[in-house]
Amino acid sequence: MVDLSVKIGGVTFKNPVLTASGTFGYGDEISNLIDVSSLGGIITKSITFHPRKGNPPPRIVETTAGMLNSIGLANIGAKRFVEEKLPLYESFNTRVIVSIAGETISEYCKVLEYLEKRGYVDGYEINISCPNTEKGGIYFGVDGELSGKVVEELRRLTSRLLIVKLTPNVTSIGDIAKAVEEAGADCVSLVNSFIGMALDIDSRKPELKNIIGGLSGPCIKPLALAKVYEVCSRIKIPVIGIGGISTGNDALEFLITGASAVEIGTATFFDPSSPVRIVKEIETYLEDKSIERLSDIVGSIIL
Ligand SMILES: Cc1cc2nc3c(=O)[nH]c(=O)nc-3n(C[C@H](O)[C@H](O)[C@H](O)COP(=O)(O)O)c2cc1C
Repeated sequence: MVDLSVKIGGVTFKNPVLTASGTFGYGDEISNLIDVSSLGGIITKSITFHPRKGNPPPRIVETTAGMLNSIGLANIGAKRFVEEKLPLYESFNTRVIVSIAGETISEYCKVLEYLEKRGYVDGYEINISCPNTEKGGIYFGVDGELSGKVVEELRRLTSRLLIVKLTPNVTSIGDIAKAVEEAGADCVSLVNSFIGMALDIDSRKPELKNIIGGLSGPCIKPLALAKVYEVCSRIKIPVIGIGGISTGNDALEFLITGASAVEIGTATFFDPSSPVRIVKEIETYLEDKSIERLSDIVGSIIL
């Protein structure tokens, strides 16, 4: 038997495979399709204090080996989330991390405080990196000082697991990671999507109404892996790898590079069962190599 468990902050996950924010809804839609309890955990869509409609359509377009989205943080808001979604998670038998977004530091704080008081969750992933809102997290995630300030304020409000999700659209992701580590984050996750654009040459119009959006999926995997490598060499807190992971091999590349866990995003659009399959594929790899614990492979990269 292989021990796939991983401890991040004070939370033990049964395995290192989580779903990425915004690609798995609130978890309830897809829980009919796959066995969520076989995952390490789920990360919800980003929640803001008030509901948001997001950007006008078209807001999703397929690209070569990936997709562009400009969803713009559409979500039901903290109140409805607590009333309608939180109660469902009790039956999931997996870790639940709520993704939080905001346009101001006080909005991030309001959402977290609201959740702290009203329901049980295992932790939070702070989305300071959404590249497709007009006034949202982008202002935080590209600036180390601002990112640190958000984390400092949130740290005061909770002792639960605080994961900070980083944007790759910066000059030095290592500097931002360092700033949030110093501000009290338990863990960083990366990457959010890369800024991208696509054009229809007949209409000569951008494919997305918002013109630019976030690029995700298999096409970003090598870019994401390089960012994870950079961050792992700069900080001591655990790192969660995200970006184009669709197979166990992909996940293992991130784990061997130094990520303690991984999140699966766009792959769930073309194969909803991919997170469950990836858990199995990681397990098979470890069994084949007679490696007893996942932790023995994390950061085992040979340079
Ligand atoms: C349709 C869509 C919606 C997303 N919504 C969010 C979101 O609400 N919050 C967030 O932090 N990331 C969001 N993301 C980014 C993903 O969580 C992930 O970081 C990114 O897609 C890269 O991983 P992937 O290549 O495995 O999809 C979204 C991505 C997609 C494709």
